[in-house]
Amino acid sequence: MADDTSAYEKLGVFYLGRAYDLDKGEAQAEPLLYDSRDLVTHAVMVGMTGSGKTGLMLALLEEAAIDKIPALVIDPKGDLGNLLLTFPDLKPADFAPWVDPDAAARAGVTPEEFAAQQAETWRKGLAQWGQSGERIARLREAADFAIYTPGSEAGLPISILSSLAAPPPEVVDDGDLLRDRVQTVVSSLLALLEIESDPMRGREHILLSNIFDQAWRAGRSLDLAGLIQQIQKPPIDRIGVLDLETFYPAKERFELAMAFNSLLGSPGFGAWMQGEPLDVDHLLYTPTGKPRIAILSISHLSDRERMFFVSLLLEQAIGWMRSRPGTTSLRALICMDEVFGYMPPVANPPSKRPLLTLLKQARAFGLGLVLATQNPVDLDYKGLSNVGTWFLGRLQTERDKERLMDGLEGAAGGGLDRATLERILSRLGNRIFLLHNVHEDAPVVFQCRWAMSYLRGPLTRPEIKRLTDPLKGKAPAPAPPVQATAAPAPATPAPAAPSKGLASAAPVLPPEISQRFLPVRSRPEATVYESALFAAVAVHFIEEKKGVDHAEELSLLAPLGDEVDWSSAETVDLGKEDLEEEPVEGASFGELPDAAARARSYDGWRKQLEDTLFRTRRCELFRSPSLDALSQPGESERDFRIRLGDLARQKRDAQVEALRKKHAPKVAQLQDRARGQTWNTVISTGTAVLGALFGGGRRRSTFSQAGTAARGFGRTLQERQDVARAEENLDALQKQLTELNAELETEVASLEARLDPTTEELEVLGLKPRRKDVEVRLLTLAWAPRDLTP
Ligand SMILES: Nc1ncnc2c1ncn2[C@@H]1O[C@H](COP(=O)(O)OP(=O)(O)O)[C@@H](O)[C@H]1O
Ligand SMILES: [Mg+2]
Repeated sequence: MADDTSAYEKLGVFYLGRAYDLDKGEAQAEPLLYDSRDLVTHAVMVGMTGSGKTGLMLALLEEAAIDKIPALVIDPKGDLGNLLLTFPDLKPADFAPWVDPDAAARAGVTPEEFAAQQAETWRKGLAQWGQSGERIARLREAADFAIYTPGSEAGLPISILSSLAAPPPEVVDDGDLLRDRVQTVVSSLLALLEIESDPMRGREHILLSNIFDQAWRAGRSLDLAGLIQQIQKPPIDRIGVLDLETFYPAKERFELAMAFNSLLGSPGFGAWMQGEPLDVDHLLYTPTGKPRIAILSISHLSDRERMFFVSLLLEQAIGWMRSRPGTTSLRALICMDEVFGYMPPVANPPSKRPLLTLLKQARAFGLGLVLATQNPVDLDYKGLSNVGTWFLGRLQTERDKERLMDGLEGAAGGGLDRATLERILSRLGNRIFLLHNVHEDAPVVFQCRWAMSYLRGPLTRPEIKRLTDPLKGKAPAPAPPVQATAAPAPATPAPAAPSKGLASAAPVLPPEISQRFLPVRSRPEATVYESALFAAVAVHFIEEKKGVDHAEELSLLAPLGDEVDWSSAETVDLGKEDLEEEPVEGASFGELPDAAARARSYDGWRKQLEDTLFRTRRCELFRSPSLDALSQPGESERDFRIRLGDLARQKRDAQVEALRKKHAPKVAQLQDRARGQTWNTVISTGTAVLGALFGGGRRRSTFSQAGTAARGFGRTLQERQDVARAEENLDALQKQLTELNAELETEVASLEARLDPTTEELEVLGLKPRRKDVEVRLLTLAWAPRDLTP
């Protein structure tokens, strides 16, 4: 059977299944297409065990992957790893290593025979849903798939160390975000140690929060060893109005330190510290910028460990999200199956706050959450009120149904008629869902399409190992190791001559020579300053034709001798406003080379600096010809490609929306004329693109803007029957629809061929500054503290 899914793929709609007729008990021809952009308002899937939630989540993830949307997939049961079981050839031999031998035994056949049966079931199942091995190949091509196993070496290992690292500036600079991050990290650490401590009153919680807060504000990362040390010797001496010893005596702090120490020393804990850092950007995209479906398998962990990991991951996701520019398109997904216990209505486990934050804020960043659970009362309704899409599946009991409807009335903000809802919910079968989407006019019942992945069920650890071992060799280079020590003040460049004696005051110099003091960050017993040259410079890169106008500003610190070699200067993260006019008290000073005491020398050094900058500073930029986009200075090729992916999708979405707007009046008119005919029957035949763009005509925004012609949609049954008297020739109508479809097809075909920024050849521009665009804003003698800590 022909694969008729390619039209959807071009248009950014997810093919989730087909409309389902509950009366006839069969799927209809009309595909159920879901606009990917609607996911930015998140989705919740509800249904009893076996209702098909996991299958639906997999189908949705497959669609996302085809659209190159990466995802973090939190998998508490182990069956989402089935996403790695995709076999484009659908051969029995592909299935054989993965079939469940017990299932084969139950079926009374050999595993080989069973594999052949399964392969056949999948081939048929897919064909029935208009899919083929070709689409599976497309799926595998579009994204990378990997299983990570925190705390275990079965899958790809992942290290939680980086969660203790200082958050990015986007988080630190936002008081609320920093407080939340501190609180989540502390709560999850304490939960892992089984220490009950209230965030407001518990002294363990308060002490740890103070330690993290102080370290992170100063841009310092911690590790467990560092934390243990700081618990014993905190960098603070007061908590509120109390002195530390009164608040939390050293002897008792020692016990807390020991608890962390035992954790650190426990066998198995090492696995938490190995592997790629828990870094959302590196989970979501490969080193070349290809999107990844990162499955975080946590089924092997204890409840405490799961909570610990999930909370840390969600916090990292918030930090990642905040570091991205806003978008209106879907950029990435966070999916979580069996979310029971992570966002409960009353209790406050560490995961709850980050989940609520994400539900509230992620939309602006194009990050969609998809949560699945057996019962919506498991979920806090403050969070649910932000959810725009509901997939409601079969429920076990009347009581569950009642509670779901109560919850929906509160959360989904009405729009659903309770009686109708109740009637529908009672009749749903497995894999059949009622879709309520706030962006659509009416709810629709559909059957989930066949999954491309082989739904084998939960994977065992050895199976995960087998699946991921081949990936381990080519595991991406880990991000630079997290520095667990205090960020030192910029190291003093090696003095040209070994310092002889130290002076107790800065030298007295002619007034034309300015001298400044670099800030002392870590306060050793006594500060020793060494002399150096500090320069604040700006280099402009201007290339009008390419629209580049970039000013690079940097500060340099060069070792000072009788000669100065600017090419060995270090860049330092200090502005000229950071320099002090006075040294710290009690400091001593290294030797000053004679040349530095002569004002003339500085003119020469300035000239040399200008020359060096002119000769050596280059600004390398990448350009995407297809999107006519330039990388930002300092943006890596990988990051640029990731951004291009977002841009391409945003552009595509805008084009599709324009196409919809343009044709909506006409479609509305035709639909109006369908009158007594159900729209579904006329639209279904040979009108794939029309269907993909307009679905069942439920799209709210499009049609409300289509003006008066759209009136027909709101008609009551009575009105429809009235008009139906003037029955029109169905054939004529269908002909018109087919024509319109053909027209749309041409327009869709002329939409730019799907761009693939992960493989597109990029131009590389190496820009040079013009001589006059090199500017030395400040050149001064600078005294830099010699770092006395080892
Ligand atoms: N989309 C699908 N395609 C093929 N089989 C499916 C699909 N969805 C569910 N199934 C079958 O139904 C079984 C139960 O569905 P599942 O999604 O695991 O239910 P739930 O997660 O709600 O407990 C699966 O093991 C699988 O055999
Ligand atoms: Mg499930």
